[in-house]
Amino acid sequence: MRGVEMKYRIFYLLLGLIFLTMTVLAFAHEKTGWIAPESAKKMKNPIKPTKDSIQKGKEINEKKCALCHGDKGDGKGSASAGLNPKPTNFEGSHGESMTDGEHFWKITTGRGPMPSYEKILTTEERWHVINYINTLSKHP
Ligand code: HEC
Repeated sequence: MRGVEMKYRIFYLLLGLIFLTMTVLAFAHEKTGWIAPESAKKMKNPIKPTKDSIQKGKEINEKKCALCHGDKGDGKGSASAGLNPKPTNFEGSHGESMTDGEHFWKITTGRGPMPSYEKILTTEERWHVINYINTLSKHP
């Protein structure tokens, strides 16, 4: 009899540990955010934010990004509801803590539902879209 009881205890203990691990992982994912490497932070945007560049970036946003990030970059695109994590809202304070280089690295690399644009957009197109995003918020 005691052997059976022991097995149950171990079973529930393991179950508890699995739940604990899952909770901690989910929490960690939410908290750690998405951090670009130091080298990316220092990368300089080679394209000046001219009217022409911003207009190009706006068009790219409408074609490729609005589905998730929204037409106005508010993060409320039509596909955003079902996504976890949620697409970033580019308005307001978003850009304050993120350099152009970090944006570039994230758009190039992708993570989770956010696609990698390394092969979808040219280098210039990625900088244009960043110049557009920068018009939506304050940035360094
Ligand atoms: C299929 C949905 C989807 C599309 C399309 C998409 N994104 Fe995203 N994007 C996301 C999600 C979700 C995140 C949050 C990812 C995370 O935090 O792990 C994100 C994050 C980002 C970030 C990082 C923001 C931060 O503060 O860390 C940038 C920059 C970005 N997207 C730019 C773009 C651009 C530019 C396009 C179009 C060329 C685009 N995204 C298209 C879903 C999408």
